[in-house]
Amino acid sequence: MTRELNPFNFGDLAVDAGFADREQELAELTSDMVNGQNVVVFAPRRYGKSSLVWRAAQQVISRNRVLVAQVDLMLTATKEQLAAALAKAIYDDIATPLFRVRERVSRVVSGLRITPVVTIDPQTGAPSFSFRAGHEHADVDATLQALFELPATLAAERQRRVALVFDEFQEILAIDSRLPSLMRSIFQTQPDVAHVYLGSKRSMMERLFNDANEPFWRSAKQMELGRIAAAAFAPFLAERFDAANRRLPPGIAERLLAATGGHPYATQELAYALWEETPRGRAANDDALGRALGRVLRSENAHFALVWERASRVQRLVLQALAVEPTTTVTAGEYRNRHDLGAPSTVARALEALVDQELLRQVEPGHYVIAEPFLPEWLRRRLS
Ligand SMILES: Nc1ncnc2c1ncn2[C@@H]1O[C@H](COP(=O)(O)OP(=O)(O)OP(=O)(O)O)[C@@H](O)[C@H]1O
Ligand SMILES: [Mg+2]
Repeated sequence: MTRELNPFNFGDLAVDAGFADREQELAELTSDMVNGQNVVVFAPRRYGKSSLVWRAAQQVISRNRVLVAQVDLMLTATKEQLAAALAKAIYDDIATPLFRVRERVSRVVSGLRITPVVTIDPQTGAPSFSFRAGHEHADVDATLQALFELPATLAAERQRRVALVFDEFQEILAIDSRLPSLMRSIFQTQPDVAHVYLGSKRSMMERLFNDANEPFWRSAKQMELGRIAAAAFAPFLAERFDAANRRLPPGIAERLLAATGGHPYATQELAYALWEETPRGRAANDDALGRALGRVLRSENAHFALVWERASRVQRLVLQALAVEPTTTVTAGEYRNRHDLGAPSTVARALEALVDQELLRQVEPGHYVIAEPFLPEWLRRRLS
């Protein structure tokens, strides 16, 4: 008998049947991409930004013939690397559907101040582009500028619409802090192009898009991704179990989702472990869920241990307090005393640092929750 494959996945993009819900966000985002509306999508890490935009892109490409070029700024450390990634995306996603094979490369590189080295993969015939370091700043900027203009120009030539996606956009500041103003000056002349910016560091996104002194100020509609509601996540989980010869009773799904809070990555991670703990043809039960949680905590142990090691004494106390006694008023005197947290200003500093590291999420003033779904349980087990 061939071994069945686990139907859950965490870490890669969620695609096809592995993608749950996000109906409303998808509808909105696909309309925006078709309409040329700029959007910034922000959410904490691992909430499914890339998966959502990937799915939206697939839809508008096939249904609306929109061309979508995507660049991941996490993979580009310098302006030269950014230029190379842009050239590649424009080649793959814009020039390839629009032009004949022989003209594609020249359509991408011909107007550039710096001509990239083009390498052809002998197996696939696909080109890649690289720009050597050491060119004059002005030449690199001019090259980037031309690349930022190119998608709109090429698409317009064939009366096609285009969307340009920047994943991990907050990294733009690390590449060169003057890039936002260069990009903005070009993008604002492209009303037909939908620019989509994804970002995980909320404060950074707020600075880039909500600060009146920043070039991107109010240049894009904001979409904040939340967790996935249990009403939508539970049927998805049950269906995935069914399709892989296991059953997930509603009560167990409910407890699984209570443990993850509908955090997309954490939910897939725990469901993966639960499926492993459930024999073929059987229904998942409480025992299996308990063992699954144990598995997940063991595999997250190194990560949580590092978090703990890096935390200051007060930060540790705050995390422990919130793990054993969640509260809406962490700075209240009684709560601080009970958990030995110290002076309000000390606690405030610890809270700020923990929010900065995305370990805590501020729900409202004074109301903080631990952002990592399995960290509270890990902390509780450590204490007992
Ligand atoms: N719509 C979804 N349905 C089911 N699972 C999802 C969904 N979106 C995300 N996930 C789960 O979350 C994981 C992370 O998704 P993704 O990489 O899209 O998130 P992200 O916000 O881009 O993360 P990062 O901050 O690391 O870039 C996926 O591997 C998958 O397990
Ligand atoms: Mg991502």
